[in-house]
Amino acid sequence: MKPCYRDTMDPNIILGLAKRRGFFFPSFEIYGGMAGLYDYGPLGSTMKTNIESLWRNNYVMREGMSEIFSPIISPEDVFRASGHLSEFTDFSVQCQKCNQAFRADHLLEEVEDNPDAMSQDELQEAMVKHGIKCPSCKGGLSEPVSVNLMFKTMVGPIGGRDGYMRPETAQAMFFNFHLLYKFNREKLPFGIVQLGKGFRNEISPRQSITRVREFNMMEAEVFFDPSNKVWPGFDEVSSKTLRLLPDGADEQDITLRDAVDKGIIANEPLAYFMHLTQHILTSAGLDSKKLRFRQHLKTEMAHYAEDCWDCEAMTGYGWLELVGIADRGCYDLQSHIDESGAELTAFIRFPEPIEMEATIIVPNLSALGPLFKGKAGAIATKLSEMPCDGLDTAIPIVLDMDGEEVSIPPECFTISQEKKKVSGKRIVPHVIEPSYGLDRIFYTVMDHNYKEDGEYVTLGLPVTIAPIKFGVFPLMSKDGLDDMASDIDKKLRQKGLLTYYDGSGTIGRRYARMDEAGTPFCITVDYETKEDGCVTIRDRDTKDQKRVKMDDLERIAISLADSSLAFEAIG
Ligand code: ATP
Ligand code: GLY
Repeated sequence: MKPCYRDTMDPNIILGLAKRRGFFFPSFEIYGGMAGLYDYGPLGSTMKTNIESLWRNNYVMREGMSEIFSPIISPEDVFRASGHLSEFTDFSVQCQKCNQAFRADHLLEEVEDNPDAMSQDELQEAMVKHGIKCPSCKGGLSEPVSVNLMFKTMVGPIGGRDGYMRPETAQAMFFNFHLLYKFNREKLPFGIVQLGKGFRNEISPRQSITRVREFNMMEAEVFFDPSNKVWPGFDEVSSKTLRLLPDGADEQDITLRDAVDKGIIANEPLAYFMHLTQHILTSAGLDSKKLRFRQHLKTEMAHYAEDCWDCEAMTGYGWLELVGIADRGCYDLQSHIDESGAELTAFIRFPEPIEMEATIIVPNLSALGPLFKGKAGAIATKLSEMPCDGLDTAIPIVLDMDGEEVSIPPECFTISQEKKKVSGKRIVPHVIEPSYGLDRIFYTVMDHNYKEDGEYVTLGLPVTIAPIKFGVFPLMSKDGLDDMASDIDKKLRQKGLLTYYDGSGTIGRRYARMDEAGTPFCITVDYETKEDGCVTIRDRDTKDQKRVKMDDLERIAISLADSSLAFEAIG
């Protein structure tokens, strides 16, 4: 059985706070709502951006990966190649009385260990064995049927082409590999990231923003040479510990080094990105004691994965997958090579050229020269580096020369067997994919940081994640205190710090509103300010207050907001 550690955090409390304070709420409510679609409100949108920035700071700034931004609507060919057309399915059952649909495995969660790894027949057998009925009306249920989760659309209103809303952002990083490889100076390893929407026509959306039909993903595809077992930077983190729940073994706290050496985690890059995931999630305010990495069962794995670890968090909904970290092998690049014929490979140079018997393409320079003039040399080099297995010498070879398709007629080359010094080989790179579900992380940030003292609610968000950084209050909205506070508010906003000016209600009520919104600091202008030129800064978590000179306020506020200054260290 899964470990039964459970938080008592009631999701309804989080949902109430989320709606009341403008974090998130169901969409289209005045029209009756639509299952699986949510709005982020004013605080939620900013907090979502802050989580994205934290992620970018790690993947783009710290790890040096490059970001792309691609269309959401994609042609069918992409998903035929990726396997999503045939494989991206769940099993649905329908109530024969009220017609509601449910995911078959979800109905078995309480009574079976790993129902999402079950086949259609196993699900049916388990439903009968446990006498599963419709959770809404207790009606009888149909047998499970497999349904594809992609949203289909038509691109072009009349006589258009079938298209799909992408179910993951990943594919663009695969079908653009040849361009991205060039951009990265044709060297492995390198990483590409994409943040954006993913769409899945979930059978039964549930548990608020944690299972929706339109959601936000932050994905990285890390391309590497699988024969190179070491990962740059791994040694620096190898002594760190993760909580692992390996397939077929007990939960354990283990260092990255031991996990790789004992073969629990298959390779260094996979372990490295599991650690980076833990680092990002705890920086976002998640409680490390409520995180674990669970390895997928062989039968549970997505169609493209060779190995996969889910980073799960304990929440009021139970253990929730936040991030899937998959070893996708060369599945996707190879599938797009097979489907499109594009050359999505990398050239790996040997330390020393080696001599081998090889089938080679011999460029015919006297034919290439007159035809291609200045480009003939580059074409000859490219021809001689090409794989020539199965090449038909009677038809032209089409080369991609810096994005331009160039057709090389048969008289420009011959095929020959010879001993030659080979400087390297072409491989289809392997891929590690850390795939983060932003909405689930968002929910868990609220869940792990919600604190109650009697009726007093504090959302203890880390400064980097908190949407509002400073509440700014005049003690009284008169006697010029309001003008001074407005001025501070305006100046801090001009420095890029999101503030909230509040001049009404008791000061205690104003603090309480900010504490509930997760605002880490409040600045108050009082009557003394007029005499000593100082304002009060209050810390949300300790409720301590310090007086600082107005002249120093901007500098101190900026340092508090980027966490380079701790509240206790204010002089
Ligand atoms: P699940 O098993 O819960 O359906 P999954 O294994 O299909 O999730 P992945 O395909 O690995 O999820 O997707 C990557 C990440 O995207 C997940 O870790 C999760 O955080 C997020 N995610 C997936 N589906 C949804 C959804 N319907 N709503 C919100 N987030 C989602
Ligand atoms: N890109 C990971 C997934 O969608 O499963």
